[in-house]
Amino acid sequence: MTALDAVSIIRAKRDGGELSDAQIDWVVDAFTRGAVADEQMAALAMAVVWRGMSRRETARWTAAMIASGRRMDFTDLPRPTVDKHSTGGVGDKITLPLAPLVAACGAAVPQLSGRGLGHTGGTLDKLESLAGWRADVPVDRMREILADPAIGAVVCAAGADLAPADKRLYALRDVTGTVESIPLIASSIMSKKIAEGTAALVLDVKVGAGAFMKDAAAARELAAAMVDLGADAGVRTVALLTAMDTPLGRTAGNALEVAESVEVLAGGGPADVVELTLALAREMVALAGVDADPARVLADGRAMDHWRAMVRAQGGDPDAPLPRAEHTEIVRASADGVVTRLDAMGVGLAAWRLGAGRARQGDPVQAGAGVEMHAKPGDPVRAGEPLLTLHTDTPGAFAPALAALEDAVEIGAVAPPPAPLILDRIG
Ligand code: URA
Repeated sequence: MTALDAVSIIRAKRDGGELSDAQIDWVVDAFTRGAVADEQMAALAMAVVWRGMSRRETARWTAAMIASGRRMDFTDLPRPTVDKHSTGGVGDKITLPLAPLVAACGAAVPQLSGRGLGHTGGTLDKLESLAGWRADVPVDRMREILADPAIGAVVCAAGADLAPADKRLYALRDVTGTVESIPLIASSIMSKKIAEGTAALVLDVKVGAGAFMKDAAAARELAAAMVDLGADAGVRTVALLTAMDTPLGRTAGNALEVAESVEVLAGGGPADVVELTLALAREMVALAGVDADPARVLADGRAMDHWRAMVRAQGGDPDAPLPRAEHTEIVRASADGVVTRLDAMGVGLAAWRLGAGRARQGDPVQAGAGVEMHAKPGDPVRAGEPLLTLHTDTPGAFAPALAALEDAVEIGAVAPPPAPLILDRIG
């Protein structure tokens, strides 16, 4: 066998060639060990951005990233495992009601989650606004929680040994303009989800102004690539394409979103959050092969019981008051009419600038910061009525947050046609 080296692999991809399994295994492993330099991997990532990767290459790349760390195994649990991954949206708190709901239906939900970076919040940041709640759960304790029929769901931080090649590569792509590649995004997401040990996976691929994928064709392509990778790795995978032009629900921000999720678990909450939670729950329950009706399990309080047990299992107090920001400012309607647009990116950026998100990995976030939306597209408003309430502990953040919201809200004379939330299903 000829010796493998980074430069010939970069050249091969630069010139539009297909990499062999041996080349992929070698380069991912050598990069993880530090034997391929960051600048070489960045050059290869840029070549992939331009030249793409075939389905075989993408599957092998994903397998190599999984093999760079530990693959968890929950096949010995007494209940089937199923998880959900969202590509990230504004106000996307769906995991919070969804994980306990699906656990209450009889499946086990092992979710290794990330922290927020940029304008979309992170699930761990949201849950950390619950007093005492801890994101680090040892694997043995994860297994106990998942096996416990009264809990059945765990949402925790991924350990350093879960797809470490992806951790290094994602950080490098972030600073070299090489995030935007469907094979690289698909393999990055799926390597972590497959390594997490779930037997089945439902993907919520967001499309629109507040999402990573701005148009439906690209989102569909990403969804199909991830569904294929799941199939290749023996993980039953389905994707829903869902709209992210307007924020989900009426809150964006950590504790604000926890409060809204608890409303959903109590049988209330905004209609769009309930609709998406139930749609994803039905897909998860079907993939897990569990016979249960999520709408009934939500309505009769069993999902709430599992939420409370799940929060307690990770040291949290479900009854403790949620933190509130020290300062608020109200944005009022400029005219009578109907809200015709509420831009997800503007709201996400505002929440981030108010302190709900972080600019750099490791920065702290404010639990109480964020944006409350009193009117959404289609809602009538009168001039002077509150449209948004901004929350922060740092009043200097109001001006930049207001700047992000400058063109984010439109009021017109005629209500916009109702926009569907679930756009397509793949897999
Ligand atoms: N999220 C990930 O985990 N990886 C990507 O490449 C993009 C989004």
